[in-house]
Amino acid sequence: MRLKRLTRYCGLSGSFLKSGTLVSFETVDVFTLGGGVNLPNVDRDPMLLDVQDLRVLFHSRDGVNEAVKGISFHLEEGKTLAIVGESGSGKSVTSMALTKLLPPEPQCCVSGKAYLDGESLLNLSASEMRAVRGKQIAYIFQEPSTSLNPYYTVGNQIAEAIKFHRKEVSDVWKEVVKLLDQVGIREPEKRAVDYPHQMSGGMKQRVMIAIALACQPRILVADEPTTALDVTIEAQIINLLKDLRVRLNMSIILITHNFGIVDEFADDIAVMFRGKIVETGSVESVLSKPQHPYTQALINCIPKLGKNKKRLPVVDYAELEK
Ligand SMILES: Nc1ncnc2c1ncn2[C@@H]1O[C@H](COP(=O)(O)OP(=O)(O)OP(=O)(O)O)[C@@H](O)[C@H]1O
Ligand SMILES: [Mg+2]
Repeated sequence: MRLKRLTRYCGLSGSFLKSGTLVSFETVDVFTLGGGVNLPNVDRDPMLLDVQDLRVLFHSRDGVNEAVKGISFHLEEGKTLAIVGESGSGKSVTSMALTKLLPPEPQCCVSGKAYLDGESLLNLSASEMRAVRGKQIAYIFQEPSTSLNPYYTVGNQIAEAIKFHRKEVSDVWKEVVKLLDQVGIREPEKRAVDYPHQMSGGMKQRVMIAIALACQPRILVADEPTTALDVTIEAQIINLLKDLRVRLNMSIILITHNFGIVDEFADDIAVMFRGKIVETGSVESVLSKPQHPYTQALINCIPKLGKNKKRLPVVDYAELEK
């Protein structure tokens, strides 16, 4: 079989040509074979992150909560993968499981495989994992107000990340000011000595981005980076991430509820529902022809501006679970 073009793949099965060899990969779903063009850059494996059959169980006195039920997805170098889904579907837990940020066993059990550039992540020791966190995979957490330490100035918190991950930087404070400037904080020298409570929600979000960027990560996990912000600040943050993605050649996992952001920013999408990925593929294909009823329901729930306003449909969970 001659494979002509592989445009997108994430969480799927099939095969692709690498150095003249047909390589097979697992799991079912969406990749697009088109005509005419050879696979780009077959010498360099574009598969930066490869997650296979990831499962997360939480044990509590009330029993077992299977938060993530065997999901598989891929992230390509320089690309953005959006993970969308209802609240509690396992988006944050999935991202935190990759770098062992979840509670230890027996409270929480993680199984499956996750490879970063071919290196297995889930078998790393605590000290090896510390080298991956920040430098390889950095996070912008969901809630900036609770993620920043109220006792330290924002500049000190950024400096700490630089000192830990980039020992080669000689003038750390200069780098702090540069990062604050890069994320669009005006008068960065002055604001670097502010405490988190002296900053607005949007500014705190930018500080979180600066901390993540201080590590110069290969993969940035942005977990709902704009939820607490109004639409104009949201647009600024998304533009900032877009710009930094190109400038720093980062790959991004964007966790969001906002399909507008997905459409504008992401290359691929994985839709999560009750701990599973129910649909995956290129943003273009999934948004234009959603196959799974949950994705269809989510897209139908997006409010539309203009004259033809109608009552928004409600997702019928009982129907979806049949
Ligand atoms: N530390 C924890 N201990 C026990 N259960 C947890 C823990 N963290 C998350 N969970 C459970 O795991 C499931 C998935 O949670 P997760 O935070 O991944 O949801 P989410 O998709 O990110 O939702 P949201 O959009 O609201 O952020 C939920 O049932 C949640 O209660
Ligand atoms: Mg979450």
